[in-house]
Amino acid sequence: MSTSFLNSSVQQLSKSLLWEFFDLASNIPGVISLSVGEPDFETPWHIREEGIYAIEKGRTYYTASRGLKKLRQGVCDYYGRRLNTSGYTEENCLITVGGSEAIDLSCRVTLTPGDEVIVLNPGYVAYTPAVLLAGGVPVYLHLNEEDGFKVTPAALKAVITDKTKMIILNYPNNPTGGVMTHEDYEKILPILKEHHILVIADEIYAELTYADRVCSLAEFNDIHDQLIIVNGFSKAYSMTGWRLGYALAPAEIITAMNNIHQYTIMSPSTITQFAGIEAIGTSGDRDIEKHRESFRNRRNYVTAQLNKMGLHTPMPQGAFYVFPSIASTGLSSYEFCVRLLKEQKVAVVPGNAFGEYGEGYVRISYAYSMEALKESLNRISEFVKQFD
Ligand SMILES: Cc1ncc(COP(=O)(O)O)c(C=O)c1O
Repeated sequence: MSTSFLNSSVQQLSKSLLWEFFDLASNIPGVISLSVGEPDFETPWHIREEGIYAIEKGRTYYTASRGLKKLRQGVCDYYGRRLNTSGYTEENCLITVGGSEAIDLSCRVTLTPGDEVIVLNPGYVAYTPAVLLAGGVPVYLHLNEEDGFKVTPAALKAVITDKTKMIILNYPNNPTGGVMTHEDYEKILPILKEHHILVIADEIYAELTYADRVCSLAEFNDIHDQLIIVNGFSKAYSMTGWRLGYALAPAEIITAMNNIHQYTIMSPSTITQFAGIEAIGTSGDRDIEKHRESFRNRRNYVTAQLNKMGLHTPMPQGAFYVFPSIASTGLSSYEFCVRLLKEQKVAVVPGNAFGEYGEGYVRISYAYSMEALKESLNRISEFVKQFD
């Protein structure tokens, strides 16, 4: 008889290599970390001010569980204004505790045990646990550097079975920096429609696109009935600690998500929601642009330096990560990261922390000051010299 009180779904969750690595790095003094996916800017002052003002005014009550109406409307207006979409109203929007809650709820309200879910690999670490906890079965779609880490029609067709219920897309992509353009989406949409596959599009890095323009899957009106958009305030507005995100989806799905959310969360922090209204309005647009330009400069610098030292690094088109190949060193991803940590005190993340197809790569976040980036790249260069 099992002595554990833990249920079988929870027992399937293994400790992420990412956290294991963070633990290791935190025990070594003097480490420069390029491992965390968090903008280094403070939340813009006009947004913080709205949070402070909400406290001053005593706006400290629960809100409607779906979130403040003005914020939900603000999200719909924002998607129309900046992401070329139409047709979303407040009925299609749920305000959540970060994009993280929206990912979890999306899986919980749609999956029936045994449903297969296509998950990008390498991919963001929260998707597999969300699928498993909802009883789903992850099926991995291998993202290739040769394809720009995009989902191609051939790779998609290869993983569809008669049990496929859903796919979780994430562009701009964590950890690879890959981006899907309008034309890329056009190629896979007929397949998703033909097989009636529900799509979660995690667009949390949408505003950090360095290509010609940001592309949201929601631009395509004819996919709206099988699309759940996940997004949030953490990356675009530098608001990670405020814990604010949202889902945009057909009203039936939003209502079901809210049925869980109202019992488990009640409502996201009211103070945070008032700050969110300020962020998502037009005055937040210039913050986004300022942050993006700063990240663009760092991306150009980091990519050039890594290539110069002999680590082949594709130019990322979005998010704030580079994904260099470490094949030239002959080390595994894990060995590279542990040795770099011990020998040069720089923390970067093994590519296989994002799935088996991330092996041979490491993820470096450039959401750090230029000073930290310069120093750590010098150290990485010293480290890789020994493998020449
Ligand atoms: C791809 C992706 N989705 C979702 C999240 C979660 O963000 P939030 O802070 O909104 O919960 C992250 C955070 O790193 C992420 O990288």
